[in-house]
Amino acid sequence: MFNSEEIKKRVGAYAADYVQPGMTIGIGTGSTVYWLLQELGNRIQQGLQFRAVPTSRQTQTLATELGITIADINNIEELALTIDGADEIDGSLQLIKGGGGALLQEKIVAAASKQLIIIADETKMVSQLGQFPLPVEVIPFGWKQVSKKIQQLGCREVVLRQKNGETFISDHGHYILDCHFSAIPHASTVNQQLHDIPGVVETGLFINMADMAICGYADGRIITSL
Ligand code: A5P
Repeated sequence: MFNSEEIKKRVGAYAADYVQPGMTIGIGTGSTVYWLLQELGNRIQQGLQFRAVPTSRQTQTLATELGITIADINNIEELALTIDGADEIDGSLQLIKGGGGALLQEKIVAAASKQLIIIADETKMVSQLGQFPLPVEVIPFGWKQVSKKIQQLGCREVVLRQKNGETFISDHGHYILDCHFSAIPHASTVNQQLHDIPGVVETGLFINMADMAICGYADGRIITSL
């Protein structure tokens, strides 16, 4: 049996096969993507050449250290693919993302990609979204007003994200509200309702964006769902 970190490592390495020479790709954020980056770093040593648009400062720093050529998203027509992690994946490949706070840049990069491949361990697969608190990125001004409006949508509790005892600030200078819905049966509707609240910048609901999920299991299986 494989432990959680080993599963992530195996899935990350497996996904590296989708990166072909000459591609320009998007690279996600998180502890599973960390292993993808390590494998891509190894392949660069063996001669693989590609360019990447990172989805966060954290990924940009690590990718640069590993010798990955960074591309500017504004100079690209379309990314061949993006590989990213997720916090929840349902049976229709709808996602909750943003546990690491990079959801805004992740969604922009995913939307600019021909294909979005999600890499995860089996704990991320759910029958219904919403058990994981939904991250919503908001403008700092008036965040309590935004929080009230989110609760009026049926959200049980809204928590302003903290890190190391201070309010978490996203790469783009915003706050993150972690929204405890318990269950989100109509994800597309909730996504739209959240976007209709003034002050909401982006939500962690990735609706009809993922094309494939590569999921690793403790027993060693790696299963691809389309
Ligand atoms: C980052 O903001 C998130 O969307 C991550 O992609 C997500 O939290 C998955 O990360 P892990 O692979 O670390 O679980």
